[in-house]
Amino acid sequence: MFNVVFVLGPPGSGKGTICSKIQENLGYVHLSAGDLLRAERERAGSQFGALIESHIKNGSIVPVEITCSLLENAMNLHKTANGFLVDGFPRNADNLSGWSKQMSGKVHEQFVLFLSCPVDICINRCLNRGEGRTDDNVDSLKKRVETYNNQTFPIIEHFGKLNMVRKVDSERPVEEVYEDVVKVFEAANQM
Ligand SMILES: *[C@@H]1O[C@H](CO)[C@@H](O)[C@H](O)[C@H]1NC(C)=O
Ligand SMILES: *[C@@H]1O[C@H](CO)[C@@H](O)[C@H](O)[C@H]1NC(C)=O
Ligand SMILES: *[C@@H]1O[C@H](CO)[C@@H](O)[C@H](O)[C@H]1NC(C)=O
Repeated sequence: MFNVVFVLGPPGSGKGTICSKIQENLGYVHLSAGDLLRAERERAGSQFGALIESHIKNGSIVPVEITCSLLENAMNLHKTANGFLVDGFPRNADNLSGWSKQMSGKVHEQFVLFLSCPVDICINRCLNRGEGRTDDNVDSLKKRVETYNNQTFPIIEHFGKLNMVRKVDSERPVEEVYEDVVKVFEAANQM
């Protein structure tokens, strides 16, 4: 069974950076639902491309089943990986119930890596990272943080009750954060 680690934290908590470092050093493959959907949409002869396109045109949400299928396909391409980092997912109750319905019995959910960071620091980081993301202005960032607080944090609490959350303070420099992250993975895998 595939090992899965959910990586959650507010916008600007460093999920992408930390996931790359884990992928580079620990034999886990970094998967982002958003990236997989974009790639599938653009892939010639794609199985779900037209359907995804149609949902985006209609402004409706791509069914979680499609995303889960894409995640599953991606895992099957890397059968020898130590595990998979699912970045920024599940971000709400719908995401979680869709995932559980489709994936339970197929994957082993190892733990949730929770990159914890105070809101004001996260917002400043996003504003300063200068990646030119159009959604990195103050108003839309505040909204994303609010959505995170309203919808994603309860998911982290849910996993917390199951004793599955490994919290790392990601306010610190990335090297220090990553040192603690490695310890979490070592403990989980007895590496
Ligand atoms: C999008 O809207 C069109 C027109 O209402 C409809 O025919 C189509 O089924 C919708 N697509 C999806 C994926 O719901
Ligand atoms: C998770 O929920 C969000 C908000 O409803 C939605 O936009 C997104 O497509 C969902 N993710 C997946 C993978 O279904
Ligand atoms: C978050 O929850 C608060 C309180 O229920 C609500 O007023 C606000 O509109 C919600 N914000 C978002 C972005 O969902």
